[in-house]
Amino acid sequence: MNEYHEPVLTQEVLRYLITEQDGVYVDATLGGGGHAATIMQHCSSQGTLIGIDRDSDALKAAQERLKMYGERIVYVQDNFSNVRKRLEEKGIKQVNGMLFDLGVSSHQIDEVSRGFSFQGDSRIDMRMSQHQQLDGWTVVNRYDEKQLSDIFRRYGEERFSRRIARRIVEHREKIPIHTTGELAQVVESVVGQRMATKSLARIFQAIRIEVNDELESLARALQAAVELVIPGGRIVVISYHSLEDRIVKRFFREQPQPAEPMSKYMQRENVMKPRMRVLTKKPVVASEEEVRYNSRARSAKLRAAERI
Ligand SMILES: C[S@@+](CC[C@H](N)C(=O)[O-])C[C@H]1O[C@@H](n2cnc3c(N)ncnc32)[C@H](O)[C@@H]1O
Repeated sequence: MNEYHEPVLTQEVLRYLITEQDGVYVDATLGGGGHAATIMQHCSSQGTLIGIDRDSDALKAAQERLKMYGERIVYVQDNFSNVRKRLEEKGIKQVNGMLFDLGVSSHQIDEVSRGFSFQGDSRIDMRMSQHQQLDGWTVVNRYDEKQLSDIFRRYGEERFSRRIARRIVEHREKIPIHTTGELAQVVESVVGQRMATKSLARIFQAIRIEVNDELESLARALQAAVELVIPGGRIVVISYHSLEDRIVKRFFREQPQPAEPMSKYMQRENVMKPRMRVLTKKPVVASEEEVRYNSRARSAKLRAAERI
């Protein structure tokens, strides 16, 4: 197992992503560089990669791991929703494929000081990027009751969202909720110990999505990816919860663009043709063997589409 992060569905990523061994690829979620390493191994010595991550810890770890590839890898610290602009700055207009392996890395979860996990006890941080302002503490202590209950319902699909939001507000009127451990206790006081783990996972996921603007970033990045990938090139996305998977599934299906009218009598705007061909009718999931070896793979769903 890789200490920083064990990549999931590696063989499947290669199968769907690599169409050209000399190609230019984007790993939009570089993490510890696990997928990037396999992509580089499968490319020829002409193949190049742009590795993006918001997190400076990830970039450091990936740079160390991938140093043997030298200048064939370009590192970018940014939100992947800015991919188009960042590639343009480097003079790259088109790429052969883009990979998104969404969410957080094992390192981000396991490193207690990053404040992502309810297993540890540290300031509620949850920022993927060390440069951004909004953090989990601010969401928990500054959002009003309605905002909290909305994000718990929308991003966590939590049944007790209103009661949890009310309890948080009551609690922080007396004393702010500083740490992940304190927040976990407040949530547990509403849902009870038996339900606690599942509700905590949902509440922490909801706050994390809000802090990092994850769904909006994904939607913007997919839009950019369609413009960047050459015809025949691929977009591969691995998601870990239904909210992300829904966005990806819909996006791949609903990418029509105005086509040339077939006759002068046809309205241009009425003639639409698809821009992506979906390669995975159902999402690709990990084998039992992979899940046994890497439990993170259990919830992974891979979808891939080809630019027409
Ligand atoms: C699941 S990990 C990727 C692991 C990687 N595939 C590997 O093999 O090590 C997700 C990574 O994507 C980054 N990330 C998530 N959302 C991002 C975004 N909107 N922009 C840039 N990086 C993002 C996280 O910081 C994290 O390092």
